[in-house]
Amino acid sequence: MPEISLRHLASWKALQSHYEEIAPLHLRDLFAQDPDRGERLTAEAAGIYLDFSKHRVTDKTLQLLFDLARETDLEERREQMFQGAHINVSENRADLGIALRMPKESSLVVDGVDVVREVHQVLDQMTEFSDRVRSGTWRGHTGLAIKNVVNIGIGGSDLGPVMAYEALRYYARRDLNFRFISNVDATDLVEALRDLDAAETLFIVCSKTFGTLETLTNAHSARDWLVGQLGKDAVAKHFVAVSTDVARVCEFGIDRENMFGFWDWVGGRYSMDSAIGLSTMIAIGPEHFTEMLAGFHEMDVHFRTAPIEKNLPVIMGLLGLWYRDFFACQTVGVMPYDQYLRRLPAYLQQLTMESNGKRVTNNGKPVEYETGAIYWGEPGTNGQHSFYQLIHQGTTLIPLDLIVFARGLNVLGDHHDILSSNVFAQAEALAFGTTENEVRAEGVAEQTIPFRVMEGNRPTSVIMAEMLTPRLLGSLVALYEHLVFVQGSVWGIDSFDQWGVEYGKVLAVKIIPELTADTDPELSHDLSTNTLIRRYRRLKRDEAGHGN
Ligand code: F6P
Repeated sequence: MPEISLRHLASWKALQSHYEEIAPLHLRDLFAQDPDRGERLTAEAAGIYLDFSKHRVTDKTLQLLFDLARETDLEERREQMFQGAHINVSENRADLGIALRMPKESSLVVDGVDVVREVHQVLDQMTEFSDRVRSGTWRGHTGLAIKNVVNIGIGGSDLGPVMAYEALRYYARRDLNFRFISNVDATDLVEALRDLDAAETLFIVCSKTFGTLETLTNAHSARDWLVGQLGKDAVAKHFVAVSTDVARVCEFGIDRENMFGFWDWVGGRYSMDSAIGLSTMIAIGPEHFTEMLAGFHEMDVHFRTAPIEKNLPVIMGLLGLWYRDFFACQTVGVMPYDQYLRRLPAYLQQLTMESNGKRVTNNGKPVEYETGAIYWGEPGTNGQHSFYQLIHQGTTLIPLDLIVFARGLNVLGDHHDILSSNVFAQAEALAFGTTENEVRAEGVAEQTIPFRVMEGNRPTSVIMAEMLTPRLLGSLVALYEHLVFVQGSVWGIDSFDQWGVEYGKVLAVKIIPELTADTDPELSHDLSTNTLIRRYRRLKRDEAGHGN
């Protein structure tokens, strides 16, 4: 990373002046002057076809973006990441999600350890356990087979497992029930367990640190629920753990041999393909899980070896930076046109925003440019009946990733073609819109025309694949993991720490006893917080007084 600030680089300055040329151009003009861009501005890898032609770029824009990537040593930093350098600067750690999916016969020695060998030892342990649960040979305390698998975790210990289960439900065992408890709001646990029989229920407590208050609170309450029905001795057969911290797992009362480990070089938001994905492997089986890992790996190889000009994560990452830092876009919309991917946007929120929501560079200096965008989204076509109005005719420019599959998993009449038609239609409408004259030619009353004009010039990427499979899910997630890396690398920030989430936790731990104390405590917060706490305690007391 050059010592000089990003904004002072020649390529950044060139992009700044280039932006002045590009901003006034309309996609209608760009396509009229360069019709074959619709085929040229595409790239394909690992089962994914990316059409980025409906972006507000020319060949010159792309060249300048690639220049920026090179001037910020992207290719060198990428190679450092793949070799296990400590790219997580503030925690002095490697971040090696790519090792989780490297083939068994490969090896990668980091800090003197062959991490691939360790990864496959855990995968073998996961496979053996998953097979026992799926075959019914793993028996609960009363001798019954497991029918319910309940994952307890939050953040990366929940979002990945939930997204993967929902995305791959088509491939999952339908005679097993999967539930996911994450929120410390008791409602999450109560509703998840309400209809379950403890004798048939297995809990997977997922926590990299095994110190997250929400997860431990839920895990203890789940254990109380189980012990209440089956007695203390039942815990061993109904609880397993996924963590990096053996001591804390054993302290909770889970046997060491029922723990599936992972490592500090696996970031929580990069962990769905680690043992954190145990619930996924039980749901879809070890073979499908292996296919998912192969998809991750295929995209890894593409990212590591493809020229940056044809490199999907590089192209998507740089386009995101183009809108973030030059068009001043605040958000990116991810709209998967597949109901099984309905939790993908939520998953991507942590992956992108916890990674790149940073304000200092790796050198500890405040950034002088915008960094991580706000990611959000809903499956299509539902979003079209909710917020697409703003995307089409609002005053905020929102670049979209539209995800579409050529074949749906549930074939029913024309449903899939109707669904897919919307992807192509939305991308076309957003790009080209309708002019005043076109609306007038439709016979629209003069006074209504301004309301009907669709400005267009709103950019989209269309990401197309043949079908949603475990392999494709792996490729797709790896695509986003690596575009996050690309952006963090150019911005010169640490995409792998998350100090911003720690302070709130510290304050909350201090406030808990102020809420639970029998007598009103001395409070030393600001007047707003003190007043809120006092009001909360009074309302809670009044409710108790009403005997509700
Ligand atoms: O949100 C903060 C965070 O540390 C995430 O990075 C992580 O995925 C989540 O909390 C859960 O952490 P753990 O897996 O250690 O319980």
